[in-house]
Amino acid sequence: MKALVLSGGTGSRLRPLTYTTAKQLIPVANVPILFHGLRAIASAGITHVGIVVGDTRDRIMAAVGDGSDLGLQVTYLPQEAPRGLAHAVQIAEEFIAGEPFLMYLGDNLLQQGVASLVTGFGDGQANAVILLTKVPDPRRFGVAELVGNRVARLVEKPLHPTSNLALVGVYLFDRHIFQAVRRIRPSPRGELEITDAIQNLIDTGHRVESRLVQGWWKDTGTPEDVLDANRLLLENLESGVFGLVDDSSVLRGPVLVAEGADIRRSVIHGPAILGSGCRVKDSYIGPYTSLDKNVVVHSSQIEGSVVLEEAKVLNLQSPLAGSLIGRSAVIGHANDRPRAWKLILGDGSRVALP
Ligand code: DAU
Repeated sequence: MKALVLSGGTGSRLRPLTYTTAKQLIPVANVPILFHGLRAIASAGITHVGIVVGDTRDRIMAAVGDGSDLGLQVTYLPQEAPRGLAHAVQIAEEFIAGEPFLMYLGDNLLQQGVASLVTGFGDGQANAVILLTKVPDPRRFGVAELVGNRVARLVEKPLHPTSNLALVGVYLFDRHIFQAVRRIRPSPRGELEITDAIQNLIDTGHRVESRLVQGWWKDTGTPEDVLDANRLLLENLESGVFGLVDDSSVLRGPVLVAEGADIRRSVIHGPAILGSGCRVKDSYIGPYTSLDKNVVVHSSQIEGSVVLEEAKVLNLQSPLAGSLIGRSAVIGHANDRPRAWKLILGDGSRVALP
């Protein structure tokens, strides 16, 4: 079996971070979102992976390389524009070469991984398997209607959903999906929808099965989703101290301090992860915080946040919480007058003041 990982798209809801990186490369628990998916694929015993890439192809290719670090053999499949998930399948036809395949959306995270899902597919009767989970707001997703165990109807982002079962971004297909993709037309949002292609499989008498997700699932389309995913992953963090923690610092709960990190006169209340080269001084790092490589925190309090490489959080008077801070951003305290907020923000930034 092969895998097709979709890592194109625009990531507009994650601006300004996505002006300089791919949304799939934003780290959660200090590992890029895409790598969590690739690791799950490798753990399921799949080695041949096609990655669909768009405008951010250079960054994805620089991060993943030939995949050998992950035990994978990666082929890149350029998509000239984000014309939809079914369009991504279409351009992968030659790479898939008639084999059954797992399709994985590069911004999705699944606690259970994919090993149990792929077992036996290709030997059985199903032409496709979709993964479903109950969600509070199905309008954001593809939605499935079941009759008994049978998938009766699939609708992409319905205004008036008739079920709360969302399509998770992990699918299994055999070669029949390529014909279905050729039979569908672009949706009102101008994309070739995989949901429509699967509906077409159903309408043409093919067998589409569904499974319910065990454990949590996260689509990381928005900053809130990224923070949620970070929280979910840190729930299972294993402690380890590989850097320097001085005698005046206190670590509580699961805390991972990477090699080369330097913690002084601070309290770290886990689950929290501090990447290599982090420097934390006279500060409080609270639960569900991930500080990536070389982040500096001085005389500040921060919790429930994701801070990307090289960012600095300095001398804050109020705690920082629920924040997603981009690479090399600097948040500091102004001592001079006027006593005002002084902001230099990228396009599409969001600031919530207390
Ligand atoms: O996350 C689950 C949802 O994913 C499903 O419930 C929906 O049925 C499915 O259509 C999809 O909806 P999204 O609107 O969330 O898809 P998004 O545009 O975010 O794209 C998902 C991934 O695929 C993302 O990593 C970007 C990539 N992509 C997207 C498009 C449209 C491509 O590589 N090429 C594309 O043309």
